[in-house]
Amino acid sequence: MSNKIIDAPLTPKKVQSVYDFLSSFYDYLTRYESLSKERGVDVADIRLGDKVFEAGFGTGQIVIASAVSVGMYGHVYGIDVSSKMLEKTRERVKKHELTKRVDLQLGDARKLPYTPGVFDVVFTSYLLDLIDTPEISCVLKEFKRVLKPGGRLVVVNMSKGDSRYSTMKLYEWLYSRCPSLFGGCRPVVIEPFLKALGFQYVKRECILAGHVIPSEIVWGDKPK
Ligand SMILES: C[S@@+](CC[C@H](N)C(=O)[O-])C[C@H]1O[C@@H](n2cnc3c(N)ncnc32)[C@H](O)[C@@H]1O
Repeated sequence: MSNKIIDAPLTPKKVQSVYDFLSSFYDYLTRYESLSKERGVDVADIRLGDKVFEAGFGTGQIVIASAVSVGMYGHVYGIDVSSKMLEKTRERVKKHELTKRVDLQLGDARKLPYTPGVFDVVFTSYLLDLIDTPEISCVLKEFKRVLKPGGRLVVVNMSKGDSRYSTMKLYEWLYSRCPSLFGGCRPVVIEPFLKALGFQYVKRECILAGHVIPSEIVWGDKPK
């Protein structure tokens, strides 16, 4: 299957309203993504004392896992454009008694509110697949900017598989007719972007989420 990425036509405002709407049942809809996210967390290799940033944290499952991994001397930061997702994740963090280790705010991954070189790990799952193609590089540059030298970027996305996964051609056809029905997410292939931006030791793994939808886990390190 071709690696050409189709357009993601939803405006930022529309994306925000779609995810505000989806926030209350998002976890039920996306249970099939848990394997790929778990693998993403594995390769992130978050350590005690780390500063971790997550873009587009959604309902906060990874925020909680990261906050446990960083321990009491580490910290987790996150931004999301949806105020309902922010509300939901803040409640979750409170329930797990992790508020002292976590800072969450409304924000856009295209322009991060952080100074350069502050994070050991930047993580994002199922966000780049709803960012329009010309803006993917801008978002990845922002991730690189806020990483410490030697820090690790991990991205998990809906992706394209090889010719066995021709279901994605049908998916793209349906998506181009009604993108909001799919939460704005379409398949992307991100490894070439990381290489072009100078990340080192770039790796990619594919997992067939829910036995049908290919997901990729791509990671690389900012040069020291
Ligand atoms: C498909 S969901 C993924 C949520 C979570 N990362 C997960 O894997 O379960 C995308 C999330 O990114 C947020 N989002 C979309 N565009 C964004 C942007 N430009 N900046 C920050 N967050 C964004 C949405 O509000 C939503 O919470």
